Amino acid sequence: MSILFHWPTRATYKAALLVWPSLIVAACAPVAEPPIADKPALTTPRGLAAAEINQLWWITLGLGTVIFIGVMIFMLIALFRRREENAGAPASGNGIVLWGGVIMPTLVLLGVTGFTLNTLMAISASGSPDDLVVEVIGHQWWWEVRYPEQKIVTANELYIPVGRPVQLRITSDDVIHSFWVPELHGKMDMIPGDTNTFWIEADEAGDYWGVCTEFCGIQHARMNFVLVAQPAEEFAAWVAHQQQPAPEPTEPLAQQGQQIFLDSACAYCHAIDGTSATGRQGPDLTHLASRRTLAAGTVENTLGNLGGWIAGPQHIKPGALMPSSDLSGVELQALLAYLSTLE
Ligand code: CUA
Repeated sequence: MSILFHWPTRATYKAALLVWPSLIVAACAPVAEPPIADKPALTTPRGLAAAEINQLWWITLGLGTVIFIGVMIFMLIALFRRREENAGAPASGNGIVLWGGVIMPTLVLLGVTGFTLNTLMAISASGSPDDLVVEVIGHQWWWEVRYPEQKIVTANELYIPVGRPVQLRITSDDVIHSFWVPELHGKMDMIPGDTNTFWIEADEAGDYWGVCTEFCGIQHARMNFVLVAQPAEEFAAWVAHQQQPAPEPTEPLAQQGQQIFLDSACAYCHAIDGTSATGRQGPDLTHLASRRTLAAGTVENTLGNLGGWIAGPQHIKPGALMPSSDLSGVELQALLAYLSTLE
């Protein structure tokens, strides 16, 4: 063993010093582009809780940077100082160990703990009993969204009124997921058999990108959603519209498509309010055509993407629980004509 092991030489340390910046830069490569205009950013908070978290983030980044630079300066001195220059230095390093190893870290950690507790208290504020309640249930790999009082069920989209705290009750149907809208709040785990409650509030109307932030299986990266914050009147209109059952199709092609939907396996997994389809395995499709994305933020909701998704979901999201369909081209056209009526 000892024959194989060599302490790294000074040249190795110097080389390592030059390599690490490129590793850090490599970690910044983009993952997936959300199909909505606004990109999520922790550093552009647009809600009260996110502003607190953003502040804590800058404080810890600042502290970390100062300490990092200090440590690097000491390391460079150690690397580049000649051996003879050490001759006159005092032999004992007790002072440095005491200050740099005990006192400083204790002060820094106490400070960070204080800032963190302060932030936690600030963001754990609870709302009032008459706040809007939204239940979000994580599934592999999509989000079920329910408004119990309004009797609305939707998927992969969360509408809230702007400037008002909304109570979120989150849980999971299968494995642990985690709910995160970076511009509005911190992360919150979604645990099967347990419900976590917290309040979320958006200062400005707009679209906010939401992500799953707990690894939950092969398509964890394609488990996203859009949170839409709207002025009160627009939100009320959205609620009223979502409460309507799906309209009966009037065009012959769409009527044919509805029959195909109800007679095929689609109806076992999906519900469409106003029809005999009441499946709960997959997303409720009552207002599918009004949604912005398909497959939990994977692709934009266009007719072409919807056709591709139905024909071969495993090509778009391998491992997704939605099976490929064996519909003919003509049947698929009819089905798309029907689904596009589900505004
Ligand atoms: Cu759900 Cu990761």
